[in-house]
This record gives sequence, structure tokens and C-alpha cells, in this order.
Amino acid sequence: MLIDPASRPDPYPILGALREASPRAASDGLVVVGRYGDCAKVLRDPGMSSEHDRSRLAPRRGARPMRTGNFLHLDPPDHTRIRRLVTKAFTPRAVAALEPRIRAMVDELLTAARDRGSLDVVTGLAHPLPVRVICELLGVPAEDHGRFQEWSASLAETLEPPLPGLVGPRAKVAAAQARAEFIAYFRELIAARRAVARDDLVSHLIQVKEDGDQLTESELLATCILLINAGHETTANLINNGVLALLRHPDQLRLLRQDPALAPAVVEEVLRYDTPVQLTLRVASGPTRLGDAHIETDDLVVLLLGAANRDPEAYEDPDRFDIRRTAARPHLSFSAGPHFCLGAGLARLEARIVFEVFARRFVEPRLCATEIAYKPNLNLRGPARLDIEFDAV
Ligand code: HEM
Repeated sequence: MLIDPASRPDPYPILGALREASPRAASDGLVVVGRYGDCAKVLRDPGMSSEHDRSRLAPRRGARPMRTGNFLHLDPPDHTRIRRLVTKAFTPRAVAALEPRIRAMVDELLTAARDRGSLDVVTGLAHPLPVRVICELLGVPAEDHGRFQEWSASLAETLEPPLPGLVGPRAKVAAAQARAEFIAYFRELIAARRAVARDDLVSHLIQVKEDGDQLTESELLATCILLINAGHETTANLINNGVLALLRHPDQLRLLRQDPALAPAVVEEVLRYDTPVQLTLRVASGPTRLGDAHIETDDLVVLLLGAANRDPEAYEDPDRFDIRRTAARPHLSFSAGPHFCLGAGLARLEARIVFEVFARRFVEPRLCATEIAYKPNLNLRGPARLDIEFDAV
């Protein structure tokens, strides 16, 4: 069973079986989609809503959709409007300008590992890096970065599909607490930047305007929290999954060491081979058909991105980790269509630098254990610890 935490280390045989049987109604109100072509189609279908509260399975069903301004869970026209404003502030130029800072942070973390003589990739590299990067980008002072790491880990545990037993009551309470603390923190930061603007993303989000339109206070808050959450656990898992795949495939690590220009290809292959966001959800706005499956209005559609990325109809020998693969199709790890990941450029930049520097600086890196312990998360799946040893850095 996919929801069983015992399947976290290798969910791919189960995902493969679910993909082959899909698309199909798994239970009343729940449709599972795992084939590449079907997932790509649903993600681009304007008849499929991202407002999850509409689903027949949603606990708050019937309540008015929460207009929190978290545009990941909004449909047009609200989604289009907020995303356009955020895109004006969070530009590819702002992301590219971060490269020297990201390199310095990676060097600092790896030098600390050298001095310690050991590295748990999860706590020593993959988690601290993305949280520092996004905090610096937003303008969160360095002394607060640690609190953000804890808050966003608490929220990540609850970003699961609404299936019974996946999120326990303790995790729900911790997430509610983290959300409240996030909101209080950003309220103050936004007020400070309204008073005195700086050259950071929070100031730019406050100022951004289009046709006289601006982000409201609650949209600003929701956007800051979304950027931290969407950008932290996901990128951390990309880094963890990538280091793990390279260490389990020494021939591929050797190729990267010989040719650092392969680093962007490593990033894309890790995203495909071990998808950091395993699934996403849509709600059918009206009755429709997908293959042989009949989908009713308000059915929850679970899109198994991790299964789609290993669909043999889309990729040759899909279970092979091959950094020289010239993929015929882009993977679906950053979604597709109107909700395509806004931070894809930043995630790619961070992971590219990490893989490149890791391959260059570590002498004889190897895993301390063959069995890797995983976090309980089904969706934002990744290792809980990843201890490595090495001869030198
Ligand atoms: C490996 C890292 C990442 C992965 C795998 C990832 C994956 C995704 C996916 C799958 C979606 C769309 C979900 C859907 O269609 O329902 C998404 C949306 C989004 N991501 Fe990422 N993400 C990553 C990193 C980031 C980073 C670093 C940021 C920003 C700092 C970010 C910001 C966002 C935002 C704002 C959205 C919402 C876009 C919208 O709804 O229009 N992500 N991401």
C-alpha cells in the first residue's frame, strides 16, 4: 500500500502497478491517474480545479472557498492575477543574481562537513541551503533562519492528500501552530518593509503594481508563506535524492566529475527518477472521461507525478538512472500548465551548484548504510538521514 510508510524507501513498484491500472476510480469521489499522458492532460485542463476544498472528500466541503491568497490553490481569474503580480517581483534575473551567494553557502556547508569529518546530507546540506536561500531572497534576517526551518518542516508533514490515516492529530496541531507563527512573523516583516523598503523580495512584492492593481495584505502574507514552503522541503528532497542517486550509481558520479557541464542534466534526471513532489491534486469542475474512467463533478483526482515520470510509454528503460539520457519528454516534477512551479529556476540553480560542487570536492564519498530511513511524508517524500563518509573534502 502506497500510504504505508514502509513503502517510502522504494515506492516505485507500487506506483508502477497503480499507473498500469490507471486511470481508475479508487473509491467514491477519488480518481487515481498515473500515466504520463493522462497526468500531462489533466494538469493543462481548465476543467480541473486547484481549489481542493471543492472536492467531495474535503473536510471543509460546502464551506466557502478560503480566499487566503495562496495562489497554488486558486483558479483563474484570482490565480492569474496574483501569479502575474508575483512573477513581476520574483524574476529570473533576481534568481540568477543569487548564484554567487548560493556557491558561498554550499562551500561553507561543505567546509563545515570537512572540519567535522562527517556529513548527514539531510541536516548538513539539503535542509539548511534552500531555507537560507529563500530567507535571504525574501529579506528574512540570518538569525531567524533556524525558526523557518522548523516551521516549514511542520507544515510539510501535513501537505498530504486527504486520505485517512496520513496526517495524525499531533502533526495537524504542530502545523497550525507553525502557520500562526509564520503569519505573525511576516506581518511584522511586511510592516517593517512598508516603513523602510529594502532591495529584497518582500519589499518588491509590496511595491509591485500592474494596471493599478497590487497584492493585498493577506495575499502578501500567503505568498511569503507559500514561497518558503514550496521552496524548502521540495528543494531539500531534490538535493537528498540526487546525492543518494549519485552515490548509488558511482559510474554516474564519475561521469559528472569528469564533465561538470553535465550538472544541469543530473538535476533533470534526479527530478524524473526520484520525484521530490510525488503527487498533486485536482478537482473536476464537471463530469468528464479520462480513458475508461468516468470522472464526476467534484471528484478528487490524484495525479501520481512520481509514477508518470517512470512511465515506459514516455521514457526508455525508465527505472534506470542515466544522467546522459536525452529525455524525449520533459518530466512532470514541476507540474505543467498554469500552475507550473514558479520556483523551478531557483530549485534548478541550487541543485546544479550542489551536485557540481559535491562531485568536485568530495574524495571517495560513500554511504554509511545501505538502508536509508525516510520521513513519513508520502507527498514531499525524502530521506530522514543520509550519512556519508569520505576520504577528504
Ligand atoms: C525541487 C524543487 C521543487 C519542486 C519539485 C516543486 C514542485 C512544484 C509543483 C509540482 C508545483 C505545482 C503543483 C500543482 O500543479 O498542483 C509547484 C508550484 C509552485 N512552486 Fe514549486 N517546486 C520546487 C521548488 C520551488 C521553489 C524553490 C519555489 C520558490 C521559492 C517554488 C515555488 C512554487 C510556487 C509559488 C508554486 C505555485 C505556482 C502556481 O500555483 O501558479 N517551488 N512546485
